[in-house]
Amino acid sequence: MRIIVKENYDEMSKAATNIVAGQLYIKPDSILGLATGSTPEGLYKNLVKVHETVGLDFSKVVTFNLDEYYNLPRENPQSYHYFMNEHLFSKVNINLENTYIPDGMTEDLDIECKNYDDLIEKMGNIDLQILGIGQNAHIGFNEPDIKFEATTHLVKLDDETIEANSRFFTSKKEVPEYAISMGIKNIMLAKKIILLASGENKAEAIYKTVLGSVRPDAPASILQLHRDVVIILDKDAAKLLPENLIEK
Ligand code: PGA
Repeated sequence: MRIIVKENYDEMSKAATNIVAGQLYIKPDSILGLATGSTPEGLYKNLVKVHETVGLDFSKVVTFNLDEYYNLPRENPQSYHYFMNEHLFSKVNINLENTYIPDGMTEDLDIECKNYDDLIEKMGNIDLQILGIGQNAHIGFNEPDIKFEATTHLVKLDDETIEANSRFFTSKKEVPEYAISMGIKNIMLAKKIILLASGENKAEAIYKTVLGSVRPDAPASILQLHRDVVIILDKDAAKLLPENLIEK
């Protein structure tokens, strides 16, 4: 694991932008794994800017989102379909037919999950996966559990996650209780992974990710077994990490 610590959220987002833009310059038809939530908003904003100013090309890019709420229509402003459109897809020259997000309104969950897995595999797996992290160390919506779920699946969201995400809704009871999420195997098969975290409320999850035992009750800890992970943090999220682990 490479661990990069930046002064603040903007610097963290810039470092992530360089990696993603670099990936697209080197391989314009990259398959990106995308995350939602507050953390990657700065990254997406910067990518739009790089597209507008120096023409970063998304025309051949394929994307797979990590997750989507179950039973929340895509037109709902809190859906991840809506988020992606708003923050990235409508602002760059991506072909929407190459953007995949689990269908939270599916009538057949098993088929939806299997098709998602099959498609990722058929495309040759993800080149660069972008991850945020939950305060409970979830990645995607892989919540702490007694086992690692390998593939795309329906998740019952933890109360902690519902609480954390209620800031986007008018009340906690409006937050969907379930979501469809890629599994740990989908994520671990990505060729390169960047995980972003900012803020003190992520410090403990980051500590468990980097220094804890690899166990399903801290899902992000599995990343210790991946060959190419870059963790990009702001100072607050890195607060519990020893200095000697941080890249100079
Ligand atoms: P956040 O969510 O970026 O909104 O903090 C991250 C996550 O829950 O994975």
